[in-house]
Amino acid sequence: MKKFSRYLITSALPYANGPLHIGHLAGVYVPSDIYTRYLRMKGENVISICGSDEHGVPITLKARNEGVTPQEIVDRYHSLNKKAFEEFGIAFDIYSRTSNKIHYETASDFFLTLYKKGEFVEKTTEQYYDEEAGCFLADRYIMGTCPHCGNENAYGDQCEKCGTSLSPNDLINPHSTVSGSKPVLRETLHWYLPLDRYEGWLKEWILEGHKEWKTNVYGQCKSWIDQGLQPRAVSRDLDWGVPVPVEGAEGKVLYVWFDAPIGYISATKELTPDWELYWKDPDTRMIHFIGKDNIVFHCIIFPAMLKAEGSFILPDNVPANEFLNLENDKISTSRNWAVWLHEYLEDFPGKQDVLRYTLCSNAPETKDNDFTWKDFQARNNNELVAILGNFVNRTLVLTNNYYEGRVPERGATGETDKPVLTEIGKIRENVESSLEAFRFREALREAMNLARLGNKYLADAEPWKVIKTDPERVKTIMNISLQITANLTIILEPFLPFSMEKLRSWLNIEKIQWNNAGRDDILKPGHIIKKPGLLFEKIEDAEIRKQIDKLESAKKANEAASSKLLPSKEPVTFDDFSRVDIRTATILEAEKVPKTTKLLKLKIDTGLDIRTIVSGIAEYYEPENIIGRQISIVANLEPRKIKGIESKGMILMAEDKDGKLVMVSPEVKVNNGSTIK
Ligand code: 2FM
Ligand code: ZN
Repeated sequence: MKKFSRYLITSALPYANGPLHIGHLAGVYVPSDIYTRYLRMKGENVISICGSDEHGVPITLKARNEGVTPQEIVDRYHSLNKKAFEEFGIAFDIYSRTSNKIHYETASDFFLTLYKKGEFVEKTTEQYYDEEAGCFLADRYIMGTCPHCGNENAYGDQCEKCGTSLSPNDLINPHSTVSGSKPVLRETLHWYLPLDRYEGWLKEWILEGHKEWKTNVYGQCKSWIDQGLQPRAVSRDLDWGVPVPVEGAEGKVLYVWFDAPIGYISATKELTPDWELYWKDPDTRMIHFIGKDNIVFHCIIFPAMLKAEGSFILPDNVPANEFLNLENDKISTSRNWAVWLHEYLEDFPGKQDVLRYTLCSNAPETKDNDFTWKDFQARNNNELVAILGNFVNRTLVLTNNYYEGRVPERGATGETDKPVLTEIGKIRENVESSLEAFRFREALREAMNLARLGNKYLADAEPWKVIKTDPERVKTIMNISLQITANLTIILEPFLPFSMEKLRSWLNIEKIQWNNAGRDDILKPGHIIKKPGLLFEKIEDAEIRKQIDKLESAKKANEAASSKLLPSKEPVTFDDFSRVDIRTATILEAEKVPKTTKLLKLKIDTGLDIRTIVSGIAEYYEPENIIGRQISIVANLEPRKIKGIESKGMILMAEDKDGKLVMVSPEVKVNNGSTIK
């Protein structure tokens, strides 16, 4: 691989409209922190950039709901989140914010450069306008019925039920979320980045040039590019954001996804006068740490912006993670289904590393993963306490007992010692190659093998028995155990920075550079160590019970809130009812619709024909599990195009109070095409 002179690590700028939870840490910030710490320990020139994303409609909506200004909202969450990152040891070089002056200037200049180069297309289109409130209705300011799945509460930018991204003009029966009124169409001018012009270049740069990117990232990029890219509007009619810096653009701001990634540049400018070296010198390696919902913005749109500008480097890798679930359910802010970082710190003071460890061990690197409190407890008690803590404790206590804390001389090493000493170097190499490949779970497992090695060595060598018969031999055993312990402070530092700081203080040593890992002479004979405390403490069942109870209360509150059944609908005549052609059918084939999280494309046998239906059930059914299932369909629903696929009909689903969809199937198998009446 090319040798780079410096690294620029960016981590997705979280929206400053709510507190951070474990999903944020597991998906983005723990991996980015581990990687950054590792690079720093290797002596690389590295800066790690993050900050609050303070624009976008959800922020102004929250402000409106609370009757405060958007600035008050972002001030509140910027401080809360900055503090949470600090407390978890997420060691950014800067945690900036996009409401800073420097960001406004940088984003404005960036827009103007592209504008002057003629890189935008200007288009006047008809968009919804709220005459009562006197404003255009961008993104989440408008709601209506999703044309794909019939969800009556779809937003102007996305239907959260079927996952389809929408534009406000797609909505059926739109209404303003500001005044509730029915909006009218009005002409408005906006600037578009013509992504279609970058298709050829993106194919070459990503599909040909970055085959090494993680499969989930490469796959998503390929699917976007293969489906054909469309021009994207980079401005909005809103009063919160960076004003569009051209004449005649009053009342218009940059789209949040245009200004947010520029936030990485403004934060670098704020951090160092050398910012251009990090952004413009091809010897810089830029890496974006993000969650999967940000892939298109970091791999396609932002690179197209950088390419259009012309003087910036591009990301060399974008190791995006999938999502973390909590106790088998999606993390959700609105349903309070989350472990909030500020609450964790109150409930488990001083145990930041336990959470970092659990989240890394179980990181959603290749697929969505689940956090459970039982697993958290087991990782702490069975791994951190029983393996790492136990080894360190025995080594440090015995050294204190036998030699008053003085590191003993190592005598001749025998057949049981030599392989152990060689193994330390091998473990370092394995950790290194996993980290370089952004496989953090694997890296941590390998790093913990060093503690396992130490534990096994002590258990086999039994110094507490040998001391009675061969005290010289015990000096060798303890010297080797101490060298393993010193190596642990290096190899585990990126993962468990708080605990390794403690361990270094007990070993009475400073932080050691990564390249010393593998050495067997880090602690010199005669060096004095201190009396240790406990590196990790057992977590009792009662503490875990308390957390599970907390979640159960959240679940009950949600159930109570959503248990109100929908009121019954207006009566219909029998004739009206019988115009709907409901029949049985069998699923022959099922596959996920690319670029969506919720849609399945189904080939079904209706008895009358074989046809395709697109259905928003991907969250509830795995394609391979539903082949052969008999279902009920509305066979004469007008065909519609969903994600470019013609869908003929609709599958009948029962929706329970959690919004979960369940297929409605006949009690016993009947002929396909049997009418349901
Ligand atoms: O998804 C999010 O939370 C966005 N605020 C991430 C922005 S990343 C970058 F582009 F700023
Ligand atoms: Zn929908």
